[in-house]
Amino acid sequence: MDQMPAKMMPGGPVADAVFAELEPRVEKLVANGHTPGLGTILVGDDGASERYVGMKMKRAQELGWTSPHLHLPQDASQADLVAAVRSFNDADEVDAFLVQHPVPPHLDYDAALLEMDPDKDVDGMHPVNMGRLALMMAGPAPCTPAGIEALLAFYEIPVSGQEVCILGRGTTLGRPLALLLSQKRPTANAAVTVVHTGVPDWPEYTRRAGIVVAAAGVPGILRPEHISPGAVVVGGGVRYEGRRLLPDVDEACEEVAGAITPRVGGVGPTTIAMLFRNAVEAAERTRR
Ligand SMILES: NC(=O)c1ccc[n+]([C@@H]2O[C@H](COP(=O)([O-])OP(=O)(O)OC[C@H]3O[C@@H](n4cnc5c(N)ncnc54)[C@H](OP(=O)(O)O)[C@@H]3O)[C@@H](O)[C@H]2O)c1
Repeated sequence: MDQMPAKMMPGGPVADAVFAELEPRVEKLVANGHTPGLGTILVGDDGASERYVGMKMKRAQELGWTSPHLHLPQDASQADLVAAVRSFNDADEVDAFLVQHPVPPHLDYDAALLEMDPDKDVDGMHPVNMGRLALMMAGPAPCTPAGIEALLAFYEIPVSGQEVCILGRGTTLGRPLALLLSQKRPTANAAVTVVHTGVPDWPEYTRRAGIVVAAAGVPGILRPEHISPGAVVVGGGVRYEGRRLLPDVDEACEEVAGAITPRVGGVGPTTIAMLFRNAVEAAERTRR
């Protein structure tokens, strides 16, 4: 019998559901006299970074939030960046904020991140928050991994007790996703395997898994022969060539997978939704 084309799992409806859930919580904050504020810090003139920051600010404004923004010049010093981070740490109107990555090469992003108040870290990338994730303590979860968990839950993909193989152990995606999906919760609780360049026979692992997450940033790396028929495939890794987006997941996987994220509009919208969820939670923590 011919394999049916995969069921598509777009991120848009997942994000819409998250925003709908956040709406009454934001209304409550506003009714109590506080409008949430999402701060953004951008250094330099990288076009893609400017677009990303602009998109987050626009979304914040559409939601009726404030969006304090600091744009430092390309030749800003580390001290300038640290001063910007500290000013947002101290600003009452900023509930949560981010430093857009990457920063110009002469600056130390990790050092700037360490200066951030972990409770205002909207990306969930501060080492304290990574530690909270590892220790299963409450705190802002990294947005893309949290978005993938939300996406699987939204499409009612069983995760608990299933084998999930993650291709890539990077710090923004693969590694925190492994920590998240192996936690003891109904929407996680999986047998997680992480493969990378140190595992040359990684297709042996992806072929065995019921859920495969591509998180390598290598265009087309996950091909149909790397997955089992009917597997659930989530494409997280992407590379940009100019404005052209090149996903990790080869298009032909759609003919083999049971369910798959679309090449555009998959985990991106869920990442943004998680960012706002982190911001609302930060606001709720301080305004209680
Ligand atoms: N859509 C979104 O919103 C979103 C958000 C965050 C990240 N991303 C994307 O997710 C991807 C991963 O980001 P990251 O920062 O977590 O990871 P990263 O630091 O770029 O690391 C990539 C990982 O993939 C592995 N890898 C690369 N080539 C491989 C190969 N040929 N065979 C096996 N493994 C290979 C690397 O293995 P080694 O460790 O052995 O080098 C590494 O663990 C990137 O494409 C990024 O753009 C997307």
